[in-house]
Amino acid sequence: MPDAHILGIESSCDETGAAVVRSGEKILSNVVFSQIATHQPYGGVVPELASREHLRAIVPVVRQALADAGQTYQSLDALAVTQGPGLAGALLVGISYAKALAFALEKPLIAVNHLEGHIHAVLLEERQKGNHELNFPVLALVVSGGHTHLYLAEQRSEAWSYRNIGHTRDDAAGEAFDKVAKLLGLGYPGGPIIDRLSSHGDPGAVKFASTQIKHRDRKDRHEADGHPRFDFSYSGIKTAVLRYVEAHNLKAIIDERRRALAAITKPKLNDYLAACDHETLSLVASFQRTVVEDLIEKTLAAARAFDAATLFVTGGVAANNELRRRFENDAAQDGLPVFFPSRPLSTDNAAMIAAAAYPKWLLKDFAALDVSAEASLPLQKL
Ligand code: KG4
Ligand code: ZN
Repeated sequence: MPDAHILGIESSCDETGAAVVRSGEKILSNVVFSQIATHQPYGGVVPELASREHLRAIVPVVRQALADAGQTYQSLDALAVTQGPGLAGALLVGISYAKALAFALEKPLIAVNHLEGHIHAVLLEERQKGNHELNFPVLALVVSGGHTHLYLAEQRSEAWSYRNIGHTRDDAAGEAFDKVAKLLGLGYPGGPIIDRLSSHGDPGAVKFASTQIKHRDRKDRHEADGHPRFDFSYSGIKTAVLRYVEAHNLKAIIDERRRALAAITKPKLNDYLAACDHETLSLVASFQRTVVEDLIEKTLAAARAFDAATLFVTGGVAANNELRRRFENDAAQDGLPVFFPSRPLSTDNAAMIAAAAYPKWLLKDFAALDVSAEASLPLQKL
């Protein structure tokens, strides 16, 4: 198969990324500029600020990615950019820049779905390790701040297609981590903080009722073709944490914690631990345990129902230590091989966009120059 050097650009949320990947299997550079410091004071991503930060970062980030890869604009074979889903204004920054570059350089432009990018992060790293064997059907759990989706992925010659067999009906799993952390005065983003604090609490301390992880109505549990659906819901558990805080009068302690952590420029694990009592650590650990168990239970049930041969777990929440450990253990019991991206490739990055673009480059599946951002872009069906 011919080699291609593809420059990927990612700007769908709060990370500006640029990367050069060779033929979907070798990362030559991967630059990520995180906007966490900008959004931290607001406890979440502010879309207008995200667009402004992307505008500032995009040119230096792309230049850095080319320099790190030892490439020039002229030596590239194609440009790839995230078309959606994501924040419309943020996506537009990457798309406008990629379109301008493609036009000026007379190089092909490839539009990539962000969720497909997360799936290809796993493939990219496995190929980079020399693992080219892949057994189908592949079941992919994409679990991040904006998404909790289950896809059956197929490859026919070079073309990839995806069938959604489940998604969240309300909050995404990462969103629940972020909202619970904010509610408890732990700052943003919540996932990495809750991940590190959870091992210091008792995960069995607070029992969340199964109704707090809502299940679909009976009639909605099957598709028209009779196949079951595996949907998620994480807004109930966030409300349950809020009720716990109210019932146990934790408000004053939380306000104190928020103030103490805000006074520290870059709080470390010990600062968070010093600001948390055992009850809070156990609440956090119980929340994480409940979400992790729900993700695993539904994903493995879906894998059994669809006879999946391989499992991918990807997206920001796939960086979670307990989630990885439990998936590895529980999938192994079902004889199911499970693959994760490395932690840097679990969260948003442009290497995954450049990797997902390679099969499209082989198929000459190029975008027209009037391509635009699609905030709710779905991943194509089988
Ligand atoms: O994939 P990503 O970078 O952006 C989206 O596409 O949404 O995912 C970000 C999400 C955030 O909600 C963040 O809290 C969560 O991933 N996250 C984690 C961990 N690291 C990031 N959640 C749980 N444990 C982690 N270690
Ligand atoms: Zn993402």
